[in-house]
Amino acid sequence: MPSRRERFEDRRKEASQRDLLDQFFDHRTLLAVSRLVNQGQFDSIDFPIATGKEGGVFRATRGAEYRAVKIYRIGNTTFHNLPAYALEELRRETSVRNYGGLIFAWTRREHTILGRLADAKVRAPYPYGHLRNCLVMEFIGNEAGAAPRLLDAQVDDPEAVYRDLVLQIGRMVREARLVHGDLSPYNTLLYQGKVVLIDVAQAVTVEHPRALELLARDIAHFSKFFGRLGVEVEPEEFMRAVGGTSLRPATAQS
Ligand SMILES: Nc1ncnc2c1ncn2[C@@H]1O[C@H](COP(=O)(O)OP(=O)(O)O)[C@@H](O)[C@H]1O
Ligand SMILES: [Mg+2]
Repeated sequence: MPSRRERFEDRRKEASQRDLLDQFFDHRTLLAVSRLVNQGQFDSIDFPIATGKEGGVFRATRGAEYRAVKIYRIGNTTFHNLPAYALEELRRETSVRNYGGLIFAWTRREHTILGRLADAKVRAPYPYGHLRNCLVMEFIGNEAGAAPRLLDAQVDDPEAVYRDLVLQIGRMVREARLVHGDLSPYNTLLYQGKVVLIDVAQAVTVEHPRALELLARDIAHFSKFFGRLGVEVEPEEFMRAVGGTSLRPATAQS
C-alpha cells in the first residue's frame, strides 16, 4: 500500500501536470492540436521535451515515427525576452498587431525559416506544418529520447563537431542567406555526432543591417565553448570560413 507521503507525492505530480496542461493547452491551442491530428500531422502528443516561459516542445507520435511539436504560449509574456530587432522584423512582415496574431505570425516565421534551411541543406529539423501557435517538425532523437543540446552533450571529437558547425553555418549564410542571431550551444543539438541547428524564429537575412553583428555574436558563443574543449577557435577565422566576411557592416544610414 502506498504510504501517505507517496500519495501526497502522487497528488503533487498530478497537480503539476495539470498546471502544465493549463499553461499550454488553453482552449484555442487544444483546438489547433486536434485539427493537426485531423490533418494527419501526428496521432498523439506524448510528453514535454522542454518547457519554458515562451512555450514548450513536445514529442509526438505519427504511426511508427516521432515528430516534435513546438507550442508557443498565447499571451503577452511570450515576446518579453525577444530581441527588439526580431519583433521589428515581425511587425514589418505582418499587418496583425494583437498578441495572438503576432504569435501565429512568429510560428509561421519559424516554419518558413526551417523550410529555407531545408532547401539549403542546412541540418535543422524539417518543418512538416504549422497551425496558429503550433509548429510541427522533425524530431531530433530516437526512442531513447531527444538529442541533447550541444551544451550538455558528451563531445567525443570536438574538432569534427567544430568543422561540422562551420559547414552548417556556412550553408546557412551562403545558401540560405540567413543569420541565426541566437545560435549557441543552447540552440544546437548534437545527434549521432552531428550538429542540428534549432530555435530559428529570430533569424534575419544577410541583408539585415545587423546581420554581421549578430553573426559575430553567434560565433563568439562557440569560440568560448570550443576553447573549453581544447579546440582553439579564432573568431576571425570562423567568420571567414562561414562566408561572413562578405556581409556588409551596419552603416549609419541603415
Ligand atoms: N526538433 C526537435 N527535436 C528534439 N528536441 C527538440 C526539437 N526542437 C527543440 N527541442 C528541444 O526543446 C528545447 C527548446 O526548444 P527551442 O526551439 O530552443 O525553444 P525555446 O524558444 O524554448 O528555447 C531545445 O533545447 C531542445 O532540447
Ligand atoms: Mg532555445
